[in-house]
Amino acid sequence: MSNTTHTPSQETTPASPYGTLPPASTPASRKPVSLPRLADMHARGEKISMLTAYDATFAAMADAAGVDCLLVGDSLGMVCQGLNSTVGVSLETMRYHTDSVSRGLRRVQGTAWLIADLPFGSYQESREQALRSATVLMQAGAHMVKLEGGGWTTETVRFLVERGIPVCAHLGLTPQTVHALGGYRLQGKGDAGALLKQHAHALQDAGATMLVLEMVPAALAADLTAELKHCATIGIGAGKATAGQVLVLHDMLGINLGKMPKFVRNFMADAPGVLPALKAYVQAVKDGSFPDDQLHAW
Ligand code: KIV
Repeated sequence: MSNTTHTPSQETTPASPYGTLPPASTPASRKPVSLPRLADMHARGEKISMLTAYDATFAAMADAAGVDCLLVGDSLGMVCQGLNSTVGVSLETMRYHTDSVSRGLRRVQGTAWLIADLPFGSYQESREQALRSATVLMQAGAHMVKLEGGGWTTETVRFLVERGIPVCAHLGLTPQTVHALGGYRLQGKGDAGALLKQHAHALQDAGATMLVLEMVPAALAADLTAELKHCATIGIGAGKATAGQVLVLHDMLGINLGKMPKFVRNFMADAPGVLPALKAYVQAVKDGSFPDDQLHAW
């Protein structure tokens, strides 16, 4: 290994014996995904594709496949760190992975919109704590932060948005509160659906421009998708009507150490490699063939 000074120009001219990142293969015409572009896609009814990413190489590959949004999800606690839940993921770990994903995107002049999860314990205390934590992730390269829950989170979302931090909310199965929810199970059934809707509207009014809906009945997600004009719903186990879809990268590549959730399709099963599998996911989200409500929804 050379001990010469590491300059920015060396960053852009990789000559590493340890492998290089895949070249950008997204169409040259693809402009960087931005909040106005996402709002435009939402308004036109173009489905938004989102995948989790935790490292530079997969981030570059997902971008090359045309994924619109990358989420540095705190699911990395399970996927990368071997934890039982996301509760043990620290802000420093999220910063490290956000930095890696962001660097991977920069190396290939990537265009994807980059979202990072605020981990458990990094925003619950106060709006000021949320701002400090969001700043760490934005300075690591995130374009938007995601936080879980409704009701009490509304004022936190407003506080962040007013200070220039785009926010994605997350309702339904919120894994950081899995112990309070009693397990990874369907949320928003029956009467609980009305409260979830109320929370979703309040989050939109507070300025959240995206809303992940995880493991909720497809009919509830469809209603909310039609009602929320300024906040794009992104479903995971929420049926096909949502404005976009997200999956955990490893799940959709069929590399899951546990039981595969019902809402996942293994895109590697019919693909000759990772890049074609990622492209097939984008295509299936865009043309509405994934998810299939008969197989992947409640
Ligand atoms: O952490 C994560 O990966 C997520 C997605 C499952 C939405 O929050």
